Amino acid sequence: MAIIVTGASGLLGGALVAALRGAGERVVTLVRREPRNADEAMWRPAEGVLDPGVLDGASAVVHLAGAPIADKRWNAAYKKELVRSRVDSTRVLVRAIRETERRPGVLVSASGVDFYGDTGDRVVDESEPKGTGFLPELCGRWEAEAAAAEDAGVRVARLRTGIVLSGRGGALRRMLPVFKAGLGAPLGSGRQYWSWISEPDWVGAVRHILATPEVSGPVNMASPEPVTNAAFTRALGQVLGRPTLPMPVPKIALTMGIGEFAAAGLLPSHRLRPGKLLDSGYEFTHSDLTNALRAVL
Ligand SMILES: NC(=O)c1ccc[n+]([C@@H]2O[C@H](COP(=O)([O-])OP(=O)(O)OC[C@H]3O[C@@H](n4cnc5c(N)ncnc54)[C@H](OP(=O)(O)O)[C@@H]3O)[C@@H](O)[C@H]2O)c1
Repeated sequence: MAIIVTGASGLLGGALVAALRGAGERVVTLVRREPRNADEAMWRPAEGVLDPGVLDGASAVVHLAGAPIADKRWNAAYKKELVRSRVDSTRVLVRAIRETERRPGVLVSASGVDFYGDTGDRVVDESEPKGTGFLPELCGRWEAEAAAAEDAGVRVARLRTGIVLSGRGGALRRMLPVFKAGLGAPLGSGRQYWSWISEPDWVGAVRHILATPEVSGPVNMASPEPVTNAAFTRALGQVLGRPTLPMPVPKIALTMGIGEFAAAGLLPSHRLRPGKLLDSGYEFTHSDLTNALRAVL
């Protein structure tokens, strides 16, 4: 019985697929080009094309596909692409799951901490309602499409992932040149909480969810010890052995440099408690930020 993975060429998909295959699992990746071997199958999410037969008899589906949130400056067309590549692809996948004769037991589908909007200093678990703004609305629609698989008797886990710390890509890799140049600085007030998770823990937590039938619905994918952006800045500078600047980068400068994503993705505060993971017995390898940064860098 195979585990099906979408978005497998991405940062998290690549890490997950390698770990699953390393543990002896059969993984079939859904690719948006001609398949190159028997471990790949084609889908065309933008055109609504996925043969339900591909999913027949699979044990699980892990859905990670979506256009990159932080790689490009947002304009109206790209914001549409961010939504379309997530909401429509999830709809295509769930429709195929419904049409499959022998359905997978579980769908694990990506989402983000951005679901909550700005929740300030409050500790937030999975019972917190959706926030307001572009990213919370996107996450809400994305999760609703995934949750529709529950009607077909499939367990659905929606991954509200924080900032994944990886040495291979993502947010941390984007920050490194600035910090190595000694120019790392708090962003905005610096008081906003950043909920982070190390790449090994993200992979470990997904494997835990796959293997733990009682975990379903939204799952906060973040370490139990979120820190403020100012504390994150200090920790990263220390781990790299580089000074950081005491003066924060004001919101207006961030918005001019990065665009709308700055205010939507970097300045909202998310102080998450990974309630479902802790309550179901997941043991984090990296709860302490400094240890996590040392491990992934
Ligand atoms: N990394 C983080 O810190 C983080 C935090 C919160 C949420 N997430 C979410 O978790 C998921 C995986 O994250 P990631 O960091 O691995 O992302 P990533 O590196 O950007 O990979 C996403 C993958 O999605 C597929 N994709 C790209 N553009 C697409 C499009 N227009 N339509 C359909 N598929 C497209 C690609 O895979 P194929 O070419 O193989 O199809 C790509 O490799 C994403 O949905 C992301 O929003 C990530």
